[in-house]
Parts: sequence; structure tokens; C-alpha cells
Amino acid sequence: MREASSKLIITIDGPAGVGKTTIGQMLAARLGLNYLDTGAMYRAVTWQALQSAVNLAPPNEAALVELGRNLNFVSRDATPEEATDERQYTVMLDGQDVSQQLRSPEVEKWVSVVAAVGPLRQEMVERQREIARQNAGIIMIGRDIGSVVLPDADLKIYLDASPEVRAVRRSRQKTSKTVAENAAEEARRNLEKRDQIDSQRTVSPMVIPEGALVIRTDHLNPQEVMAQIEAALTDWLP
Ligand code: CDP
Repeated sequence: MREASSKLIITIDGPAGVGKTTIGQMLAARLGLNYLDTGAMYRAVTWQALQSAVNLAPPNEAALVELGRNLNFVSRDATPEEATDERQYTVMLDGQDVSQQLRSPEVEKWVSVVAAVGPLRQEMVERQREIARQNAGIIMIGRDIGSVVLPDADLKIYLDASPEVRAVRRSRQKTSKTVAENAAEEARRNLEKRDQIDSQRTVSPMVIPEGALVIRTDHLNPQEVMAQIEAALTDWLP
């Protein structure tokens, strides 16, 4: 086993609805580490942009960068009361709980457009690296974490699954109002649209990071995914 003082850094990337947050949280609990879902940061900027009527078609890049720079963002585990709405974690913006708002249909519709803005990404990537520096080990979840944000991580994981499987999983999650109200078909359309923008954008497109452990999760439950990750982490496990 490695020194307890070693700073274990794990990245989890992959397309929408593949189970990155679920696995990230399980892994964080197993290893006693913090985790950060960076998607929530892009959702937060998107929500604020919608609130303040910032133009998104085409995106007003300067205004988005300004929002990103001033983002007063905190994410933490949900309390038992908060978790009754089936959220995966709680996000506070300027001291206000916006966890539900970040899963709204409007945010789902625009987040990939916002996340394709290069100068905003630079701002977010710097923040994410700073968060990694400040933590004694972290699990960071997103689309470009192993490829761009933390390419020297100790373990880089890429989770994948077919669009059909991901849509079914997402439509079962009650966290999102969109999803609770919509059928799997609608979830599939939304995921496909976002996947397309995320993997085709010019800045930091979603890719399998070099050296990543790739796990296809179509036929695996979370425990089976965890077993594969733990096999790659034997040096680090208590
Ligand atoms: O939970 P889900 O996988 O559906 O989405 P998310 O992780 O909350 O990410 C929402 C959107 O943010 C993605 O579709 C990407 O457009 C963007 N994103 C990104 O560009 N880079 C990241 N590191 C994380 C999210």
C-alpha cells in the first residue's frame, strides 16, 4: 500500500448518463476522498446565464467568462433531508441551493453550448486544477479531466455505454425533473445531442484519455464496475 500522505488523484470521464457520478461517489467513500463533478460547474454557469438573459445563440463569450470568473460555487454531499429529492449531491451558488435548478430542462438544453466556449473552459480548468491542488487526493468527474485538466492523474477511468442503455438509466433517475417527466426516448434525444456537441467541439472534445482504464458498463451493475476499478487500485486500497 502507498503512503497515507500520498495524494491520490483519480479522473472519471465519459458521456452523459453513463454513471460517472454514482461510481465517483462509491469510489470516494471507499477511498475516503472528496469528489467533484465538474459538470455541475458548467451547469451552474448555464443556469446563471439563463437567469441573467445572457445570449446563448450564439453564446456571448465575454459574458459567460465573466460569470465563470465570478462563480461562487460550492458542491457537497447532500444532507439526509436534501437527499429525499433523490439528488446526487448539493450545489450552492451564492449561498443558495440550486441543485434542482441545475437539472432543469433549460439547463440540459444549453449546457453543452456553454461548455463549448473555449475561454470559459480555460477559466473552469484553472479552478478545477486549483481544487485538485487544495485537496489531499480527489476524484474528479467530467469530460476532459483525464485528457486536459489532470492528465498526470494516478488513475484515469473512461466509462462508456450505448446511448440506449444510458437513456434508460437516465430516465430512471428522478433527480432530474426533465427525466422524471419524460420517457426514455426524450432522454435519449437529449443525451445524443449533448454527446454530439461534447465530442465534436473544437476545444477539449470528449476523448478517451491516453492510458485510461476503459470500462464498458452496458452489462455491468455499479458493484461490477467498482470491482474492475478496485483491481486497478490494489496498491492504494486500505
Ligand atoms: O450528468 P451528465 O453526464 O448528464 O452531465 P454533466 O456531467 O453534468 O455535464 C453536463 C455538460 O457539461 C456536458 O454535457 C458537457 O457539455 C459539459 N461538461 C464539459 O464540457 N466538461 C466537463 N468536464 C464536464 C461537463
